[in-house]
Amino acid sequence: MPLLIQNGRIVTSSDVVVADIYCQDQTISAIGRNLPADPAATVIDAAGKFVFPGFIDPHVHIYLPFMGTYAKDTYATASKAALAGGTTTLIEMICPARSDEPLAAFELWKSKADNQSACDFTFHMGATRFDSLAESQLAEIVRAGVSSFKVFLAYKGAFGVDDAELYQVMRLAKSLGVIVTAHCENADAVAQKQKELLAAEKTGPQWHEPSRPESVEAMGVHHLTHFAEMHGAHCYIVHTSCEPAARQALEARMRGVHVWIETLIQYLTLDKSHSELPDFQGSKFVMSPPLRDKRNQAFLWNNLANGNISTLATDHAPFDFKGQKEMGRSDFTKIPNGIPSLEDRVNVLYTAGVKSGRLDLNRFVDCASTQAAKLFGLYPRKGAVQIGSDADLVIFDPGYHGVISAATHHMAVDYNPFEGMKLEGRAETVTVRGQVAVRNGKFVGAANRGMFLKREPNHF
Ligand code: URP
Ligand code: ZN
Ligand code: ZN
Repeated sequence: MPLLIQNGRIVTSSDVVVADIYCQDQTISAIGRNLPADPAATVIDAAGKFVFPGFIDPHVHIYLPFMGTYAKDTYATASKAALAGGTTTLIEMICPARSDEPLAAFELWKSKADNQSACDFTFHMGATRFDSLAESQLAEIVRAGVSSFKVFLAYKGAFGVDDAELYQVMRLAKSLGVIVTAHCENADAVAQKQKELLAAEKTGPQWHEPSRPESVEAMGVHHLTHFAEMHGAHCYIVHTSCEPAARQALEARMRGVHVWIETLIQYLTLDKSHSELPDFQGSKFVMSPPLRDKRNQAFLWNNLANGNISTLATDHAPFDFKGQKEMGRSDFTKIPNGIPSLEDRVNVLYTAGVKSGRLDLNRFVDCASTQAAKLFGLYPRKGAVQIGSDADLVIFDPGYHGVISAATHHMAVDYNPFEGMKLEGRAETVTVRGQVAVRNGKFVGAANRGMFLKREPNHF
């Protein structure tokens, strides 16, 4: 059924205009003032509201076997949570064990999403080993429509690659025309720090951050960008948590390295004092790289606002407090790393970024939607409000007031890191390719409407 959205304030990464949007056959087919009211169309009055392109989360974990357990969400829960928070496309990390074959992993991860997602999805392919079999299978996965890799410099023995493998992955990525996303920390330095702290009986979650200090992350970024530079490969630093790490990437960019930076909503709004909370509550805030000293936040906000930091993601990785985070009660190195945030990213960014005056509306859309679409080969199908773009739209109520709580969220996890945070504005109505999926902040859509988005390489 066609959809007509009337009188909204349409905000893209470059413009703000008041107009109607007509959607037919899953895409936007007209934009203008006073479009004729088609009797067959569903009509939504968006007067006084913003209309944004569907938001894109470029760094999500759903199926994640990790640290002796599994992340809690499935596509059924995660995709509804994403939509309820205004995210209409997500990019999940495929994280095979080093013993797994890449192609089997790709098929396994895809089988967890096919016909089970309410929102559109694609993947970054984890290159967690490199040999001739992996090389040919990674090329086959690119041909199947996945035009980005993921490497881990951390998590040695699980997902982490050594330098010879990193060199080969960068060479392959350059030859295939795909971008390499990277988790940057010096794994050996982390292992030594962890050992020292545990030997000194420093076992609580408050020791997670000191075990992976800012310098360890900055070293990782320095290392990664030099490997990218050797091949002229394109790289993307995921979950950048602090000023020294971001500065390493910016310094590489000034030398001519093709490098982009992602930060997370958690790093902008939470800090290491959260992981120091008593009674093991700090474990809810354990992720890697860790939440940092608050002084980093001004740098991250400023560089997100000026575009030096391209994208704002979540690294959504939900582990229950009960039974999962608790695995590390007597040893912080056993706390499953990750913080759930898929549902709250956009609304928190609006409140903490736009309402507070740190981000303008265009940059809000740019960093939470358009930049990810451009970097990862989805633009202008996604990340835009244009004739021909998918009709993924977010009607956003800037007058909404509410409070975040695990009691009302859609994510399948027993806590919310933003519990009690006051929201000023929220995604009210959300469409997926022209069909209403969220009304009044609640999922009302089709559970299996989401589709796998094939992406072409060489889109730079
Ligand atoms: O702590 C984190 N970030 N968990 C998810 C895995 C990763 O490193 O992205
Ligand atoms: Zn990571
Ligand atoms: Zn991640």
